[in-house]
Amino acid sequence: MEIEVLKFDNLGRGIGYYNDKIIFIPKSVPGDILLVEKTVEKKNYLEGKIVKIIKPSKLRVKPLCPYFSLCGGCDLMHISLSNTLEYKLKKVTDIFKHNHINEKIENIIKSKDSYNYRNKVTLKIVDENIGFYECDSHKLVSINNCYLCNEEINKVIKDLPLLELKNGNITIRVNYKNEILLIIDSEDGVNNLEVFNKKYQLVGVIQNNKLIYGEDFLMDKIGDYLFKVSFDAFFQVNPFICANLFDLIKQNTKDCQKVLDLYCGVGTLSIVSSTNAKYVLGVEINENAIKNAEINKCFNNALNCEFICADTKNIIDKITEDYDTIILDPPRSGVIREVLDKIKNAKIKKIIYVSCNPITLARDLNILLDYYSINTVTLLDMFPNTEHVECFCVLNLN
Ligand SMILES: C[S@@+](CC[C@H](N)C(=O)[O-])C[C@H]1O[C@@H](n2cnc3c(N)ncnc32)[C@H](O)[C@@H]1O
Repeated sequence: MEIEVLKFDNLGRGIGYYNDKIIFIPKSVPGDILLVEKTVEKKNYLEGKIVKIIKPSKLRVKPLCPYFSLCGGCDLMHISLSNTLEYKLKKVTDIFKHNHINEKIENIIKSKDSYNYRNKVTLKIVDENIGFYECDSHKLVSINNCYLCNEEINKVIKDLPLLELKNGNITIRVNYKNEILLIIDSEDGVNNLEVFNKKYQLVGVIQNNKLIYGEDFLMDKIGDYLFKVSFDAFFQVNPFICANLFDLIKQNTKDCQKVLDLYCGVGTLSIVSSTNAKYVLGVEINENAIKNAEINKCFNNALNCEFICADTKNIIDKITEDYDTIILDPPRSGVIREVLDKIKNAKIKKIIYVSCNPITLARDLNILLDYYSINTVTLLDMFPNTEHVECFCVLNLN
């Protein structure tokens, strides 16, 4: 079928119409005229894949990555960086509008590097082939380089066959010193680690959650801050823009005394805000991350921080108006209703909501905006060349 692409959707896919039915086409660009094959047919919509570009959109640029048209690893490498930034501003503004939040979002902070920024990647291994799945499929695209990943990770990717893994997943994490941690999820034997260690600064290997070589953590640095990060603990994937996130936290906690940092990970935002605040309490569900946070507070001389390992919903009753600021940096699923209601009722003066998912952010803001007003929304281009974006939102109690 021949389709003219009219606009992007919220997942970075092009949208067109076929017989009045909406069709979503990954890797297409508004203005494209395409020959498309239908891949999914539902009552209300279709999905398709590009068979041939009949007439390319003027917005198209040649993607740097030779795997781009097939690979499901990233989705916006076929338009210019400035157009991806505009797309992200419009996307978040539209999602907010859809949730009755009229806020035109105009600020987006660029990443210092838009390629080779990721300090972590997870690859699939299928019958000894290594790569990412194709978009919306379980078909493997073998790769030996990913332009989103740190250069050292790319060297490691080329040598992964040395490990002789047949099937499973492998995560590569790298730190500021180019030290490497491998996290393997596979039933196969892992071979040639010594050879691997001679070529790379291999700090540790974890297989199926068990340490099989070296240490199970990396030390990482953002600006002057030093963090211990366990193999299973969250750490921002783009260290360049993470420094900007820290600056925003610092600027927006200048007048804060007592801060509650829910979903605190290894204590990053707690430690950054503790420069301004008298006391910070960080809450995190992952035991290893909380153990890291306890150590990180000492590394960074943030002795006014305390951390507890708990599910946010189990400690939320302890929230009192004693705190003047709450930092929320939840996973993509956002904050559960019960927690949002408690926060609202505690009437805490300021909420700083950091989110990598504007859809759940807008849903949650809608609940908080009964009692709060938006002060600022800033986007951070944490994930260049993809449709993803980090949102930083400051709310004040009405
Ligand atoms: C997006 S990360 C933010 C981490 C940290 N603020 C940072 O910037 O490094 C979200 C964190 O929430 C934690 N988490 C997920 N569900 C949770 C829950 N129900 N209660 C507490 N922490 C949770 C995850 O383990 C993860 O560390």
